[in-house]
Amino acid sequence: MSMKYFDSDYLEGCAPEILEAFSKTNFEQTPGYGKDKYSDSAKEKIKAACECPEADVWFLVGGTQANSTVLDSILKVGEGVISCDTGHIAGHEAGAIETFGHKVITIPHKNGKLSAADVKKYLVNFYNDSSYDHIVPPGAVYVSHPTEYGTLYTKKELEDLHTVCQEYDIPLFLDGARLGYGLATPGTDVTLPVLAKTTDAFYIGGTKVGAMFGEAVVFPKKDIVNRFFTTIKRHGALLAKGRMLGIQFDTLFTNDLYLKLAKNATYELAVRFSLPAFFISVFIHCHPLIQYIIYSMHSEIQFFPFLYEPLRILLCLLRKADDLRNAEVY
Ligand SMILES: Cc1ncc(COP(=O)(O)O)c(C=O)c1O
Repeated sequence: MSMKYFDSDYLEGCAPEILEAFSKTNFEQTPGYGKDKYSDSAKEKIKAACECPEADVWFLVGGTQANSTVLDSILKVGEGVISCDTGHIAGHEAGAIETFGHKVITIPHKNGKLSAADVKKYLVNFYNDSSYDHIVPPGAVYVSHPTEYGTLYTKKELEDLHTVCQEYDIPLFLDGARLGYGLATPGTDVTLPVLAKTTDAFYIGGTKVGAMFGEAVVFPKKDIVNRFFTTIKRHGALLAKGRMLGIQFDTLFTNDLYLKLAKNATYELAVRFSLPAFFISVFIHCHPLIQYIIYSMHSEIQFFPFLYEPLRILLCLLRKADDLRNAEVY
C-alpha cells in the first residue's frame, strides 16, 4: 500500500472530475476575465447552495490573495482588521494585508478562536481612549473557519461576533481556505446558508478541497464593496483565463462534489490517521513509567489529569470515526 501523507492540502493536482471538465471544454472559445458562461453558472450554483440569491460571488486564485483583496476592499484608508493572534493573516501571510496599508490588530485567541466578548472589549476600550484618533481604527473583523488550531466556530459564536460587528458598523470577514473540512465535520451547525447570514464576506476555499486552484468569494449583501472587479485587478489577482476558475467551481458545486471531497478527506484523517495517533498519545500519557517520570518531575501534578485528557480525546474520536463510517463517503 502506498504511503499517505497529511503534510498539507497541496500535494496533489485536482479532482479527476475537474481535469475531465478542463479537457472537455478546452477548445471552446469564451470571453476572458470571468465573463464566461461557466463562471456565471458556478456563481448561480454557489448562490443556491448558500440560499442567498442576492449574493455577489467572485473567483480568485489563492488564499492570501483572497484575504488581502477582500480586506483591502472592505477597509477604508488607514483602517486595520481585528484578528486573533493565531489568525492566518496575522502570522502566515508575510505582511500581505499590511502591504496594502492595513494593520492586523491582534487579540489573544481562545482555542484558536476570536470571542465576541474579547472583540467587544477591544472596541469599547478603543473608543474610551481619549487619544483614539492617534491609533489605527479597527474597520473589520477577521476569523477563519476552521481556525489555525483546527477548531470550529459554532453558529451561535458567529452570530455573537456578527452582532458586535453590527453594533460598531464594521464587517465580519470569514476566511474559508479550509472551509470544506469545517462544513463536512459531523455535528457542526455551521453551513453555507448560516455563513451567508452571519458574515458580511466569506470565501469557499477550492485549492485545498479538490480544485487545482481557486477561492470563491461571497458577499451575501451586494452593496458592501465598491468596484470589486477593479480592486481585484489592482491586486494583480484578475485571472485572464477566468473560465478556468468558473469551470472548477461549477464542477465542485455539481452533485455536491465539494462536500463529498471534504468528507472523504476528513474520513481519511479521522479514521486512518487520528486513531493510531490517539493510541500513541494514550501510551505516552498513561504508561506507568512515563507517568512516574513526569510525576516525579512535577509533584504538584495529580495522576488523574493524565488519564482525563486521552479519555476525552478517545470519546471524541470514536464518535467522529463512527459518524464518518456511517456517512456516505466519496
Ligand atoms: C486559513 C488559511 N487562509 C489562507 C491561506 C493561504 O492560502 P494560499 O497558500 O493559497 O495563499 C491558508 C493556507 O494555508 C490558510 O490555511
